[in-house]
Amino acid sequence: MVDVVLSCSGLEKSYQDGSNSVKVLQGVELALEQGERIAIVGRSGSGKSTLLNLLGGLDTPTAGEVLVSHKSLSRMGERARSQWRNRQLGFVFQFHHLLPEFTALEAVAMPMRIGGEAKGVAQERAATLLDRVGLSQRVRHKPAALSGGERQRVAIARALANKPGCVLMDEPTGNLDPESAELVLNLIESIDWGDTAFIIVTHDPKIAEKMDRQLVLESGCLSDLPRALV
Ligand SMILES: Nc1ncnc2c1ncn2[C@@H]1O[C@H](COP(=O)(O)OP(=O)(O)OP(=O)(O)O)[C@@H](O)[C@H]1O
Ligand SMILES: [Mg+2]
Repeated sequence: MVDVVLSCSGLEKSYQDGSNSVKVLQGVELALEQGERIAIVGRSGSGKSTLLNLLGGLDTPTAGEVLVSHKSLSRMGERARSQWRNRQLGFVFQFHHLLPEFTALEAVAMPMRIGGEAKGVAQERAATLLDRVGLSQRVRHKPAALSGGERQRVAIARALANKPGCVLMDEPTGNLDPESAELVLNLIESIDWGDTAFIIVTHDPKIAEKMDRQLVLESGCLSDLPRALV
């Protein structure tokens, strides 16, 4: 039986706009299997970031459920949810969200340190991960001394720190020039993800077509993208 690492059913999200309630997600169904790579496309404002934030437990749905390893995220206690986020989830945003005072090595080691790993072990694995994303020459650099593409590569290494079940990437190259974007996308495609599944929100059909499944978010629902449009 295939192992589903993250799923949702009947997922709805409404936002209040003055006296109007705007329904952005209207019953999203999704099951992400172990090691699976999914691309989500959809026009601006269709709710892609909203969906990833719900899947990552950064926001709560208006209705429906997110299930992680078959347990409801909303019914987990705060402690279990934080633990799940630390151990089983990696997030890569459009903006890198790296803390300015930490070096690349410290940033990548941090999720492992939070998870209780010893400093030496965490730093050694962080160095290996930074090598995997092609940054072995940048381990002592802080974000201000890194290029945009390098920062995103640190963010990817950080997302992989605890060998999570899944990584959610919200337009990870949306803020980069075309050349850096291509380098980061090539990296996403070529690094060894092991058993880690991921969802990538992207506008780039070239990267979408390389994933196992292509989904489109439209009118609040997620469906398979017809092959001809990929
Ligand atoms: N906190 C909020 N309060 C009210 N409305 C919101 C909020 N966050 C998002 N929205 C609205 O929900 C809709 C979906 O937004 P979302 O950011 O999820 O879209 P998106 O598909 O990620 O777009 P983009 O491709 O531009 O990143 C938009 O109409 C947006 O204005
Ligand atoms: Mg978005």
